[in-house]
Amino acid sequence: MSEPFLRVDHFGVSYGKTVALADVSLELLRGGRLALIGESGSGKSTLAMVIAGLLPEQAQQTGSISFPAASTRPRLGRDIGVVFQDPGGSLDPVIKVGDQIAEIIRAHEDTSWIAARVRAADLMDRVHIPKALSRLNSYPHEFSGGQRQRIALALALAAGPSMIIADELTSALDTVVQRHIVNLLDELVREDGLTLLFVTHDIALASERADQIAVLYKGQLVECGGAADVLGKPVHPYTKALIGAHLSLDSPRQRRLAEINPDSLSLP
Ligand SMILES: Nc1ncnc2c1ncn2[C@@H]1O[C@H](COP(=O)(O)OP(=O)(O)OP(=O)(O)O)[C@@H](O)[C@H]1O
Ligand SMILES: [Mg+2]
Repeated sequence: MSEPFLRVDHFGVSYGKTVALADVSLELLRGGRLALIGESGSGKSTLAMVIAGLLPEQAQQTGSISFPAASTRPRLGRDIGVVFQDPGGSLDPVIKVGDQIAEIIRAHEDTSWIAARVRAADLMDRVHIPKALSRLNSYPHEFSGGQRQRIALALALAAGPSMIIADELTSALDTVVQRHIVNLLDELVREDGLTLLFVTHDIALASERADQIAVLYKGQLVECGGAADVLGKPVHPYTKALIGAHLSLDSPRQRRLAEINPDSLSLP
């Protein structure tokens, strides 16, 4: 890990009167793993969209985002791969998944159709789709929601991106598959120098798998720093409440964070 990969500078996003993000600044190093956590509606997906360059037209935005090491903005789908919270957006419902992945491979590499399909099967296997080779000719609706999201990850990886943005990728998965996917992402970070931003409700996952944790609360970045510091020495009352809520739950299934009643916090 060395140079900054991206810098978000005083970024704000509003939808009419709804402030989705307010004055958010952060930096992510190349090869770093940043976990975005916070309750539902706190602005996590909005910040992920800002970084992907995918804010909808109606969003009013202020501030800037830059990629200090790149001469031009990294291209979405090529340099930055995104796996959405709802994977419907990235998969074409009328094209077989194997063809979709192979097409992406061929768009970025001069390779035969057959070789691209073999690679597509390998990618499907890596994201834990059972019997990957025989599923190349299936359509997106023939997979489960969790499988579709993992196929969207395979699609994102097919272009050989330098960054992956994964919004709640592992939330719906059972622990075995979840472990497999986070191990795969870890491997890509370690071996290929991939930069990773992931959104999660799972504070244990964030503490195990992120170098940096950013905590959003009602659109504000209330905490951002090294994972051990943020979770070990939280500064903001919301982060303390979040950790407290996690520690008071012992079953992993209950680790999804409940919304925290603001009245119970002594917020400024
Ligand atoms: N396209 C949109 N139009 C209007 N409001 C929006 C839009 N997208 C997000 N918002 C609002 O912005 C705020 C932040 O939403 P966002 O989706 O970023 O939250 P989140 O932290 O990802 O929540 P969740 O954990 O439920 O996915 C919410 O109040 C939401 O209603
Ligand atoms: Mg979201």
